[in-house]
Amino acid sequence: MYEDLLYSKFIEIYHEKPSFAVRAPGRINLIGEHTDYNEGFVLPAAIDKAIYFYANKRHDKKCFVFAYDLNDSFEFQLDQINKSDKSWANFLLGVIAELQNEGKTIESGFDLIFGGNVPLGAGLSSSAAIESGMGYLLNTMFDLNISKLELALIAQKAEHNFAGVKCGIMDMFASIYGSENQVIKLDCRDLSFKYYPFHHDNYSIFLCNSGVKHNLVESEYNRRREECEEGVRILQKAFPQVDSLRDANMYMLRSQADKMSSTIYKRCKYVIEEIERVKLACEALESDNLEYFGQKMFETHEGLQYDYEVSCPEIDFLVEKAKEFSNDKHLVLGARLMGGGFGGCTINLVQNDSIEAFQNFMIAAYQTEFQRTLQCHEVKISNGVENMESVVFSV
Ligand code: GLA
Repeated sequence: MYEDLLYSKFIEIYHEKPSFAVRAPGRINLIGEHTDYNEGFVLPAAIDKAIYFYANKRHDKKCFVFAYDLNDSFEFQLDQINKSDKSWANFLLGVIAELQNEGKTIESGFDLIFGGNVPLGAGLSSSAAIESGMGYLLNTMFDLNISKLELALIAQKAEHNFAGVKCGIMDMFASIYGSENQVIKLDCRDLSFKYYPFHHDNYSIFLCNSGVKHNLVESEYNRRREECEEGVRILQKAFPQVDSLRDANMYMLRSQADKMSSTIYKRCKYVIEEIERVKLACEALESDNLEYFGQKMFETHEGLQYDYEVSCPEIDFLVEKAKEFSNDKHLVLGARLMGGGFGGCTINLVQNDSIEAFQNFMIAAYQTEFQRTLQCHEVKISNGVENMESVVFSV
């Protein structure tokens, strides 16, 4: 298993067994895309693909980190935390810096190895998993007394200030609060949440990874945020109660359409509709209507494609092909772009008996159209970040 490889590598590098071990999962999002930073709802879950950490305390202030998947290492002093040229190291450094800003004392340095099987750049939030896992590990190692919610907020700040992406709270929240076979309906305004069972006998969650990662992701993501803020500023003039797009509705938006560019209008329209879709999708879960839930996923994709404009030809192709495969026989109930956009994965709800046929169909179609290999993953909904007790106790 992946964990065993890391464990052995730890012993090889540091010549002792690790006393601390943490598993921090990646996440999926069933519906509610680009709604988190607009104070709307999201419906994510943690998955059975994770980043693993093994560590020991040291007796000085030095920290050694080995990134297993990159076969790269980095060392630093706890009292000199600065941004690094190694972008991967910034996810870890960011968490330490934010903990220190909160007045938390990390008493000693540490030896660390981390790595995992969350595909990078696939929209599965490997970075949030690293940040959440790092925070959780330090909390455990040094008894920092941090709540789950504080941990999520610290991970988010690390992403803002060290990785430079003004992300919402969804990814870290899902990685931290995940629960087996349950999705989390999170209200990103007050961070209240509710679990919904999501385990279906006939349908599974299947990801198709386009392998595309455009380098505009960060800049375009931040720009979408600004466009939403601009929309709010315009709406506010007529409707002072609108503090975020969560407070707006289509009537308000239409009434102010002539005061904004068509781009801002489309961005706001998408967000307002998507927040509503999450509510409807959750009602569908309550009445066990997975078909309706899937329809909402297709609608989300259309919004992301035409109004929010964060999709790309490869992803649109994958969604179209999923529809074609389903062929009105309910083989694929829903499919859409997942995550920030401009590449990454589609998330599909596929009938269990058709999974193999679906996978073969999608791989062949993608190869023919783009001469690229499609990576497919069936994912299970898992628990959030946790100590791997067996290791802690076996040492
Ligand atoms: C990225 C961000 C999240 C969220 C999604 C889009 O994953 O990190 O906060 O905004 O994009 O829903």
